[in-house]
Amino acid sequence: YKRITTRSLIEMKANGEKISMLTAYDYTMAGITDGAGIDVILVGDSASNVMAGHETTLPITLDQMIYHASSVVRAVKRALVVVDLPFGSYQSDPKEALRSSIRIMKESGAHAVKLEGGSEIKDSIKKILHAGIPVMGHLGLTPQSIYKFGTYTVRAKEEAEAEKLIQDAKMLEKLGCFAVVLEKIPAKLAKVVAESISIPVIGIGAGGQVDGQVLVIHDMLGMNNEFSPRFLRRYLDLYTEMTKAISQYVSDVKAKDFPNENEQY
Ligand code: KIV
Ligand code: NA
Repeated sequence: YKRITTRSLIEMKANGEKISMLTAYDYTMAGITDGAGIDVILVGDSASNVMAGHETTLPITLDQMIYHASSVVRAVKRALVVVDLPFGSYQSDPKEALRSSIRIMKESGAHAVKLEGGSEIKDSIKKILHAGIPVMGHLGLTPQSIYKFGTYTVRAKEEAEAEKLIQDAKMLEKLGCFAVVLEKIPAKLAKVVAESISIPVIGIGAGGQVDGQVLVIHDMLGMNNEFSPRFLRRYLDLYTEMTKAISQYVSDVKAKDFPNENEQY
């Protein structure tokens, strides 16, 4: 395998090749995802929802993110592995942000970190980049700020927020970030951002005129029946398939059908 690097992603944008990205939080899923040819694996703090059952991304800790990230890294041969800095691990000051990033890089072996926010965290991003750690930005709907927003609806529909988002994206590029995620913003605005900067813009609920797409893997595999935003395309109905398989197993055990003669020693 030729490994994907931050440089490959910037070249992909320059060549007009779209970037594919999915989340993964564990060894088995990461191995399947990498083997299927994904470009970027995000160890997202969505692990807080998907893996741990929390209502928001706020409770997950840096230690827990490192546990997920090291499991993913052990499986991956080709993809670039990016890890979210969790809520509370970078907002206090740039030194804390760098310390948390160093822990992720050293203890998990991942290749880059992602932080939510623009101008508010400029100094932290600078500090991390100066240490040689690649940074992916994240603008638009930033779920760690859910209690400020009050809702998970589309962001930057109004002029002032849209203008700040464009300025923030330009700032991230200027600082030296290698890519930026845009979450749940109007497709028109996402297109303007993608055309305004030379680093890749990876969208989730941001339309098709950006440089790549990201989804939460459990959502696109249809493992979650409750979450149905417009931007989500389901490639499987694993919720139904798994329920069928598990209930079949239950009835086979109850009916003394499993194990049979050939399934014993
Ligand atoms: O944590 C996550 O899954 C994310 C993606 C949705 C971009 O940040
Ligand atoms: Na995230």
